[in-house]
Amino acid sequence: MSLFKTKSIAQLQAEASGDQRLNRTLSATNLVSLGIGAIIGAGIFVLTGQAAAQYAGPAIALSFVISGLGCLFAGLCYAEFAAMVPIAGSAYTYSYATLGEFFAWIIGWDLILEYLFTAPTVAVGWSSHFVTFLHDFCGITFPAHLANAPFNFVNGEWVATGALVNLPAMGIIAFLTTLLYVGIKESANFNNAMVITKVTVLLGVIGFGLWFIFTHFAQAKANWTPFIPENTGVDGQFGWSGIMRGAGVIFFAYIGFDAVSTSAQEAKNPQRDMPRGIIGSLLVCTVIFIAVSLVLTGMQKYTDLNNAAPVVNALIAAGAPGALRFVVEIAAIAGLSSVILVMLMGQPRIFYSMANDGLLPATFAKAHPRFKTPYVTTVITGVLAAIIGGLLPLSLLGELVSIGTLFAFVIVCVSIIVLRYKQPGLARPFRTPLVPLVPLLGAGICFWQMASLPRDTWLRLIVWMTIGIVIYFAYGRRHSKLNNPQR
Ligand code: ALA
Repeated sequence: MSLFKTKSIAQLQAEASGDQRLNRTLSATNLVSLGIGAIIGAGIFVLTGQAAAQYAGPAIALSFVISGLGCLFAGLCYAEFAAMVPIAGSAYTYSYATLGEFFAWIIGWDLILEYLFTAPTVAVGWSSHFVTFLHDFCGITFPAHLANAPFNFVNGEWVATGALVNLPAMGIIAFLTTLLYVGIKESANFNNAMVITKVTVLLGVIGFGLWFIFTHFAQAKANWTPFIPENTGVDGQFGWSGIMRGAGVIFFAYIGFDAVSTSAQEAKNPQRDMPRGIIGSLLVCTVIFIAVSLVLTGMQKYTDLNNAAPVVNALIAAGAPGALRFVVEIAAIAGLSSVILVMLMGQPRIFYSMANDGLLPATFAKAHPRFKTPYVTTVITGVLAAIIGGLLPLSLLGELVSIGTLFAFVIVCVSIIVLRYKQPGLARPFRTPLVPLVPLLGAGICFWQMASLPRDTWLRLIVWMTIGIVIYFAYGRRHSKLNNPQR
C-alpha cells in the first residue's frame, strides 16, 4: 500500500466516460454562467469598499488586477486538467493523478473549506440583505433574534448573542439544496436568471458611475487623489503593502470560478467547454470588478466606503435616483443566491468522487435514478451548510475559506508541472500556455496571498488538515479502491 500511489489519466478518462449516472446537459454558456454565478457576490458588493477604505484606497483596482492575475494563471491550469480529466472531483481528482492518494485526500478535505464553508458564509450575508430589503421596501421587520447566530467568537472567546438562529440563512440553503436535488439543468436555469439580474445591474452601476465621472470630473479626480495613498507606517495600511493586503482580502471576490470544474461530468462537451467556462467567467468578472472598483472610488471618497453596503451608499452619495438603490439590493440578493447555489453544487460532487474512489462511504456515491444528481451528498451538504449558517458566526470563516481555496490553487498549479514532466505525451485538449512559467507564477502569487493572511487563520487551517489526516488513516486508507483492489 502506498500513500503516494497515483491513478492513471487513462483510468480516470475511462471512469469519466463510463459513469453515465449524471446528466450531460450543460452547454458552454451554462458553464460560463455557473462561473459568473459563483464569482460575483459578497466580495464585490461588500468587501471592495471596505478594503479600499482600510488598505488600498482607490488603488484597490490594482489589488483586483494582482489577485485576478493569480486567479487567471491558476484558472489556466484548472482548464488544462478539466478538459483532460472531465470528472466531478476537480482539484481532488487532478492531484490523485499527479501527486498520489494522500495529497488527493488532503486537497479533497481542503476543498470542503472552500465549498461547504463559503455557502453558509454567503448565506449569512444573503440573510442580512434580505432582512434589510424586507424592512426598507416592504415595511416588514423580521425579528432580529431569528435572523442572527446564537454565538459569536470575539477575541478568542465564544459569547452568546441573545439570538436563537439565523432562519433566512437556513431557508435559502434549504431552497437551493432542493433545487440541486431535483436537477442540474433546473439549477443552471435558476442560476442563469440570477446572473442576468446581477450582471445587468452591475453594468448599470458602471454606466451611472461613468456618467457621474464625466459630468463631475473635478470631484471624481479629487476622490481618486492620491490614487495610492501614502503608507501610514503600519504594514498593509495603504502604499504598496496596502495594495497587496487589499489583494489578499478581495481574493474572496474571485472564489468560485474553479467550481465550474466540478460540473465536468455534466457538461455536454467538456474537452471544449471546460476551458471556456473557467477562463470565460474569470475574464468577464475581472473586467467588471476593476470597472466597479474604479467607479466606486470615483463616486465617493475611499475613506467613506467602510460600511456594510458600499455600492448602494456610493450611489446615494453621487446623487443616483432612489430606484437604483432598490435594484442594487435586488441584484445583491440575486447575486448572493447564485454564489450559494454553485458552492452547494460543488461540494456534493467532490464527495461523490471521493466516495467513488472508496475514500468516503459508498452511499455517498449514489446518484438519483430519476433526477441523475448525487442526491445523498447534496442532502448531506445542504444539512451541514444550514447548520453552520444558522448557528455559527462569520468572523471565523471568511479568511479560512480564502486560505483553503488558495491552497488548492497552489496544488493544481504544481500538479500541471508534475504531469507535464511525468507524462509529456498525453493528449491535452487544452494546454496551459508557457509551462512552467504560468503555473509557477500562479502558485507563487497564490502562496504569497496565503502568506499575507493572519497567523490564526494558518493555525485553523493546520487544525482542519490534522483532523482530515486522522480520518484518512482511520478510514480512507483502509477503504481506498486503488490501494485495496480486492474491495
Ligand atoms: N466570490 C464569491 C463572493 O464574492 C464567493 O461572494
